[in-house]
Amino acid sequence: MESFIVEGGRRIEGTLRVDSAKNAVLPLMAASVLTDEPVTLTAAPDIADVRSMADILSVLGAEVSRQGGDIHIVCGGLRSWELPDGLSKQIRSSIFLLGPVLSRFRRATVTFPGGCEIGLRPIDLHLTGLKCLGVEISEEGGLIHCDGRNMRAGEIHFDYPSVGATENAMMAAVLLEGETVIHNAAREPEIADLQNFINAMGGCVSGAGGQTIRIRGVKRLRGARWKPMPDRIAAGTLMAAAAITGGEIILTDAPCGDMVAVTAKMREMGCRICEEGDRLCLKAPERLKAFSVLQTQPHPGFPTDMQVQMLALLCTAEGTGVVVENVFENRFTHAGDLNRMGAHILCSGRTAVVQGMPRLYGARVTARDLRGGAALVLAGMRAEGVTQVDRAELIDRGYDHLERQLTALGANVIRRTT
Ligand code: UD1
Repeated sequence: MESFIVEGGRRIEGTLRVDSAKNAVLPLMAASVLTDEPVTLTAAPDIADVRSMADILSVLGAEVSRQGGDIHIVCGGLRSWELPDGLSKQIRSSIFLLGPVLSRFRRATVTFPGGCEIGLRPIDLHLTGLKCLGVEISEEGGLIHCDGRNMRAGEIHFDYPSVGATENAMMAAVLLEGETVIHNAAREPEIADLQNFINAMGGCVSGAGGQTIRIRGVKRLRGARWKPMPDRIAAGTLMAAAAITGGEIILTDAPCGDMVAVTAKMREMGCRICEEGDRLCLKAPERLKAFSVLQTQPHPGFPTDMQVQMLALLCTAEGTGVVVENVFENRFTHAGDLNRMGAHILCSGRTAVVQGMPRLYGARVTARDLRGGAALVLAGMRAEGVTQVDRAELIDRGYDHLERQLTALGANVIRRTT
């Protein structure tokens, strides 16, 4: 087991470059299945989810290697359409392979995917999208068999703008003759990154970032070299680290335009933020002020992946704030641990009410998912004494050595392996 030991009370100060986005890199890796030619993703973060996706691709027959920050993927030798059970259960993003694998083999078999335990996370919308493209789906003994022999371009309308279902439909449609239109598509910026990557490979996709995406089928895609977009959630977490310690931070390579909802809330809490191109500076007051309400929504609303970090900020802010989680049904699982550190959080269903306290105290706590684990580290940085965050391997799923990044900024966070 990995644990982070956090000594509280140190102010964050310094400059860091934002890593490439986990949520961009994973679908891009899946999209590499759409071509036989080599794909290189540059400056890719060294995180566990990326390694798991590389393992799944290797089991399918791809050659995957890492050289420094670059990941090279060659899918010319891909031979299997069956997504491996154990590995797929490790990361939910394995479901992104469904669209590309179907596009390639016209068949695919998957198990229900895994990932963070933050809600039911069904895959009905993924399957609905594929059915609109002519895929026949049957279930047997926990396996989902997809028959794509009659795949054709089509019109998809999502009842809810699911990020993964939108990306899957896009990837399934790229090589189908004719035009596919996705209505009520998710608008997250990582979807636009996927579109631009597919177009760099010779695809013809437009509209991503908006509600309607159009995919004109092409005969084949070629290889590409691509720098995935920066990680708005990693950037937001580092901003939160500065905010909770009354510190200041300069982020370079920051996706400022995609972070408006987050910067607006941090400004409401009293942080001074200035943006210039891809450079973002944040200066926090000694004690934050509580915002009145934060509601998570699909993009461009407040991102659910930053919700729990904001919950941690509220714990020591002045005043009382309300957080409403609209995207996932089970995302307040860290409130109990934060309360053990001295916070006053009351949760009921999708709502949490936080009464800010002047101080938190170090405690031994446990990460239950990726973002929640990071939030416990943040709380530990503000707390008096030492906090031990167990199951830090969950934090490693999405942050490239968070302890090193925070230490570089003046925090005292060390890793202990037991
Ligand atoms: C992606 C992100 C994740 C983020 C989430 C919401 C990646 C790799 N992961 O996850 O970090 O938290 O977007 O911004 O990009 N749903 C259904 N049926 C489906 C699919 C989803 O009901 O078939 C529900 C989910 O249970 C959830 C909501 O829709 O309540 C949002 O899920 P979705 O947008 O699909 O998130 P992911 O793509 O899994």
